[in-house]
Amino acid sequence: MALSTTLTLSQVSLSLVLFFFTSLPPSYATSSFVHANSQQSRAEKLIRSFNLSPKDPVNIVKGDNGGFVSGKIVEKEFSFFGDSGPSIEDLGHHAGYYSLPNSKSARMFYFFFESRNKKDDPVVIWLTGGPGCGSEIALFYENGPFHIFNNLSLAWNDYGWDQGSNILFVDQPTGTGFSYSFDDTDIRHDEAGISNDLYDFLQEFFKAHPEFIKNDFYITGESYAGHYIPALASRVNQGNKENQGIHINLKGFAIGNGLTNPVIQFPAYPQFALDNGIITKAEYDDISKSIPKCEQAAKTCETQGGQSCEYALNICENIFNSILSIAGDINYYDIRKKCVGSLCYDFSNMETLLNLQNVKSALGVSDDLKFVSCSTTVYEAMVQDWMKNLEVGIPALLEDGIKLLVYAGEEDLICNWLGNSRWVYAMEWSGKNAFETSQTMKFVVDGVDAGSLNSYGPLSFLKVYEAGHMVPMDQPKAALQMLKSWMEGKLST
Ligand SMILES: *[C@@H]1O[C@H](CO)[C@@H](O)[C@H](O)[C@H]1NC(C)=O
Repeated sequence: MALSTTLTLSQVSLSLVLFFFTSLPPSYATSSFVHANSQQSRAEKLIRSFNLSPKDPVNIVKGDNGGFVSGKIVEKEFSFFGDSGPSIEDLGHHAGYYSLPNSKSARMFYFFFESRNKKDDPVVIWLTGGPGCGSEIALFYENGPFHIFNNLSLAWNDYGWDQGSNILFVDQPTGTGFSYSFDDTDIRHDEAGISNDLYDFLQEFFKAHPEFIKNDFYITGESYAGHYIPALASRVNQGNKENQGIHINLKGFAIGNGLTNPVIQFPAYPQFALDNGIITKAEYDDISKSIPKCEQAAKTCETQGGQSCEYALNICENIFNSILSIAGDINYYDIRKKCVGSLCYDFSNMETLLNLQNVKSALGVSDDLKFVSCSTTVYEAMVQDWMKNLEVGIPALLEDGIKLLVYAGEEDLICNWLGNSRWVYAMEWSGKNAFETSQTMKFVVDGVDAGSLNSYGPLSFLKVYEAGHMVPMDQPKAALQMLKSWMEGKLST
């Protein structure tokens, strides 16, 4: 019953794709839906909204542990271009599995694309959000080496981030994409579990590719990765300081349209919606009345954790849902767009391609494994993590000279630039005042204003024009230039 109810609401839920899901706006909810407004129905919506249809909610495989050897990496080179392209060796495209040591039998899948430019380019890891969505969404639709056509042919992406980096795309947390386990206790629930897994993976990755250890290293990603990225940056920095294993040459981390500091970002929704003409002043006044309740609940989550965090998420989501109930069929990843029919964003080509037997075999993926683009199970397991404030570890990283770039496409509602700007400006660190008073500069691409930039020392905030939630998809050239000049320390020159 809940299922068919949500299906009739598809016009709204379809716009809601990938990286985030939320409950439906109250005015669209029938009473039967309100009762079914569980994590499960929230998660199911994410799948439908992206035109994604994984058969299974998560990659937990039945059987014994399949010869699990803790800490082992198994990697192969592959080519999606067949005989028509460069040789497999020249291409430097790798796909692999890493057996997570702190698990019963979890295997983490990743792609590694060597730079098309030069091997001593930085190593970059990209993390897609969800929580629970595979990084292949970025690989094929944002900043990966190739784009995918409707006939499932691939073409080089001129603005793939492998034009300026050696880039890793990882399916995580466990259960996402082609990552899997035989044991459902391997599903992660918090940033500690996630960042430890990624840190262990990076250690083994650099052991397998020692020629890249000396390269600069950057952590990047989008949306819910606004949680993963600072957590991983802190974990890597800690490992370096404590001389754990290989020193990872961490130089910076970049968060794109992320969710990092919820107690600031949720209350920014009404202002952003008012400024962009999505709601009226009267509606703004009305919706803003729920802000204190949200802030209170979010603060309780920070001190008490556990169930109180799930409660805070439910409370704070009401702000967003109230706006959506007024906005109707708006695409809340890009407010310039309406979400009509099922084509808001359609990532089904990726799913079809990755489930082809010859593709799986080229990637070293077992034929009986299905690609889980966004896992409902992984999403649900993270509900107590959403409202956590991941800004808390960032000042220490800045003081250690590790750079942070927060960038945001200005047309995104769900992780809008305003909320991101607010937490970046509110952050307490030694450069706070200098950052606050920094002059706003133009970010120019091909002689055209592509964004506005504030910068001081290791901290930069970039608002990207004419882009929604997925900046590298909407402004591929600007996104590549942003990455390269930021890594070179030239973003503000
Ligand atoms: C697939 O589609 C693209 C774009 O429409 C086209 O250029 C290409 O030739 C097609 N490939 C095949 C094998 O049909």
